[in-house]
Amino acid sequence: MASVGGRDERHRPVLLQEALRALAPERGGWFFDATVGAGGHAEGVLEASAEARLIGVDRDREALRVASARLARFGDRARLVHADFRDIRRVLEAAGVSALAGVIADLGVSSLQLDAPERGFSFRFDAPLDMRMDVGSEAQTAAELLARLSEAEIARLLREYGEERRARLIARAIVQRRRGGKPVQTTRELAELVAALVRGGKGRTHPATRVFQALRIAVNRELDDLDQFIMQAADLLQPAGRLVIISFHSLEDRIVKRTFRQLAAAGRVELLTKRPIVPTPEETRVNPRARSAKLRALRKADQW
Ligand SMILES: C[S@@+](CC[C@H](N)C(=O)[O-])C[C@H]1O[C@@H](n2cnc3c(N)ncnc32)[C@H](O)[C@@H]1O
Repeated sequence: MASVGGRDERHRPVLLQEALRALAPERGGWFFDATVGAGGHAEGVLEASAEARLIGVDRDREALRVASARLARFGDRARLVHADFRDIRRVLEAAGVSALAGVIADLGVSSLQLDAPERGFSFRFDAPLDMRMDVGSEAQTAAELLARLSEAEIARLLREYGEERRARLIARAIVQRRRGGKPVQTTRELAELVAALVRGGKGRTHPATRVFQALRIAVNRELDDLDQFIMQAADLLQPAGRLVIISFHSLEDRIVKRTFRQLAAAGRVELLTKRPIVPTPEETRVNPRARSAKLRALRKADQW
C-alpha cells in the first residue's frame, strides 16, 4: 500500500504479525493497548475478531487524534482515553472493565512524534528542545532539564539512559555553555555540541543519538514504574489472558525480562517467548526503526 511520501511505510506497526500471534485476539474479549500511537496494533486486534473490543490509551493527544480517525470504522468496539498506561487500573475502572483478554504495549516514541519537527525529539530538524510526549503536561522539557540539573546529574542521566561513554565530557560542555549565558535550547545546538565532542557510532548512527535517547527517557520518565505496570497488567488479565511487550532498547528490555521472570517464578504466568522475538531482516529493511525491537509475551495461568 504505497502512498505519497511513503507514509504507510513509516507508520507500519513494528512486529505486527508476531504481536497478533502472541496476543491471539481472535479469542475475543477486552484488549488494552497501552500505547495506541497511530493505532496500527489496535487496528490489527479489532480486525482479528468482531468479538474483540479495545481500550487504547496514549499520553499524546495528537496520537489519539490519529488513532481515532483510523479506528472510527470499528465504532464503539474501540475506546480511546488520554492517559498514562501506568494508570491502567483507574482507566479500566472508569470503563467498567474488570478483566482483560490481552494487553499490548509497544513502548517508546512513535514515528508521529519523531517526524514532527516542532516536538524536538529529533536532531534531523531544528526546534526547541521539548521532547514531552504529553505536551500539555507540567513535565519539564529537555531544555528545562539541561538548564536545571547539575553537571554530575546530567552526566549520570546520559550514562544511565543513553549508555553514553563520553557523558562527563558532554555534561561539562553543556554546563559551560550555560555559565557563558548561552544555555542549550534547541535540537541543533545540542546535536552540534555533541558532534564536536563525540564520533558517530558504527554504521550510520549520528553522534548525538544516545544523548537524545537519554534525554527523551528522562523527560518522559519512560523507565519509572514499568515493572509496576507489567505486574498490574498481569493482575488484570483473565485466566489464559496474554500480555505482549515490544521494547526498543536494552534498558527497557531488561526490566521486561526481569519482571516476566518474577511472574513466571511465582507460577502466575507461562512465558510464551523464552528468547525475545526480533524483526525479520525484511522488516528491518523496509522499516529501519524496527531494527532494535524485541517482543516478549506471556500467558496468564488458567487458575489465577
Ligand atoms: C511506538 S508508539 C506506538 C505505536 C502503535 N503501536 C501503532 O501501531 O501505531 C508509542 C506510543 O506510546 C506512547 N506512550 C509512551 N509512554 C506512554 C505512557 N507511559 N503512557 C501512555 N502512552 C505512552 C507514546 O506517546 C507513543 O504514541
